[in-house]
Amino acid sequence: MRIDVYPTIQDLEKEKLSGADCVVIDVLRMTSTAVNALYSGARRIKLAGDERVARELSLSENALLGGERGGVRLPGFAFGNSPLEYTREKVKGRDIVMTTTNGARAAEAAIGAKSVRLCSFINVRAVAESLKASDHIIILCAGTHDKFSLDDCLCAGALCAYLNADEANDLAVGMRLLFEAYKDDIPLVLRQTKHYRYLESIGFTDDLAFSLRINTHSCVPMMDEDGWFS
Ligand code: MLT
Repeated sequence: MRIDVYPTIQDLEKEKLSGADCVVIDVLRMTSTAVNALYSGARRIKLAGDERVARELSLSENALLGGERGGVRLPGFAFGNSPLEYTREKVKGRDIVMTTTNGARAAEAAIGAKSVRLCSFINVRAVAESLKASDHIIILCAGTHDKFSLDDCLCAGALCAYLNADEANDLAVGMRLLFEAYKDDIPLVLRQTKHYRYLESIGFTDDLAFSLRINTHSCVPMMDEDGWFS
């Protein structure tokens, strides 16, 4: 097995996607939110980087709309990007269209891979178990505004630790070592990072605690041929 970790959408080597299983990571917060929404009983989730496309899709698909800009819920949306909003009462049996600043664009960029999964700390071991037979895994970190974001890459390191591949790129090696050194106190590391501090400053402390717990969920969202995750 080979693993390549890419820190941002711009770093992705698109031509390698078709032969690989791709894992998209946006710990704060899109992939944590999508995993929890499906765990709470949502039927399917589609991700759109463009707000207008998301609004149109939600109408044509009779889907609930969720997402953010600047971390905050968009006008007229049923949900923001807070995993805790997507409760069973609100989402059970429903399709959801989400648009977020970085994570949704990363999910779109992964289209064309052999398979596409969503991963966060909350479901990382389950994602690893679903990939044991893969020959080549591309881990696409969403990053923040096309810049490296430690929350996503540290989660990539966790996935690498569970998978123990024969070959890996340098970012995969480095992030695995960092995860192994700090796996018992992930919040300690991430509390010092920019997006964590931003979300804290706008009041999302509970989302941070929720998203940085490890292996609380066992669902593995996978993209179907129409671009829906279930
Ligand atoms: C994103 O996709 O950029 C994020 O999930 C931002 C956020 O924390 O809401």
